[in-house]
Amino acid sequence: MTVPAPRHFLQFGDFSREEFDYLFERTRWIKQRFKRYELYQPLRDRTLAMVFEKASTRTRVSFEAGMNQLGGIAINLTRGDTQLGRGEPIEDVARVVSRMVDVIMIRTFGQTLIERFAAHSRVPVINGLTNEYHPCQILADVYTWIEHRGAVAGRTIAWIGDANNMFYTWVQAARIFGFHVNVASPPGYAIDPAIAGPAAEGHYTRFAKPIDACRGADVVTTDVWTSMGFEAENEVRMRAFAPFQVSADLMRVAQPDALFMHCLPAHRGEEVTADVIDGPQSVVWDEAENRLHAQKALLEYLVCGRVAV
Ligand code: CP
Ligand code: NVA
Repeated sequence: MTVPAPRHFLQFGDFSREEFDYLFERTRWIKQRFKRYELYQPLRDRTLAMVFEKASTRTRVSFEAGMNQLGGIAINLTRGDTQLGRGEPIEDVARVVSRMVDVIMIRTFGQTLIERFAAHSRVPVINGLTNEYHPCQILADVYTWIEHRGAVAGRTIAWIGDANNMFYTWVQAARIFGFHVNVASPPGYAIDPAIAGPAAEGHYTRFAKPIDACRGADVVTTDVWTSMGFEAENEVRMRAFAPFQVSADLMRVAQPDALFMHCLPAHRGEEVTADVIDGPQSVVWDEAENRLHAQKALLEYLVCGRVAV
């Protein structure tokens, strides 16, 4: 039997601007209903399988709670307690699990792992973070930015620190939404054009000093100095990233109404000072909350398609 190829969300560039506009409209609607305690359960009898090969708080809770709130259920799988840990090929796991559930979320290491999984899945696959990308976080973050400041086209976001999965996904979003990324990274941790791809050209500018990247920016953002999977480099990274801390001095040269964003978890005193992340310009808790609402819109879209409202 031939099964039509499903839509996946493996990286931010998989969706069009028009699809993001639709998702944001649905996010707003779903969030408002949730705040009014109104039941909305389009995914009754539907199942989400979550595969976690790395730790998580926000992604785990937002997907599981979101799926339950939409009327469905979520099953949590980890490498250690499934046959993945005993060497079952990822392609076979994809074939089997996707015959039993309606949608799958995976957090893993290399992007090629999730691509191999998706190529053998009958149902939509969502990237819940890989070494290269974190599209669900940027979905919530762009929504949060718009929620606070309106249209983002022509605006500038300053990325201070590691050119990691968050950074590459911001660059993909910049191309789609028409904003610009200023980036300042220590030598050795700068953007890799092979990961960014030719489509990223013109959407980011490199700066040697963090203060120059932040000048006039509408958003200042950063992330941990050591991402999951890179723990062995921790000590070397601490030294390299020390001059790349987001502090009040950097926020001062940004726009007076600039936002501070961080996907969390954060390390106060490392990539950001406590006065910035806990200060009035920080919207980190809204970003975290919006993971729930934005991913509910994403699950609804991937499982049910567009809904008439
Ligand atoms: N921001 C984010 O993805 O957080 P978790 O690692 O807690 O899921
Ligand atoms: N860059 C971080 C994001 C965590 C949500 C990591 O990959 O560990």
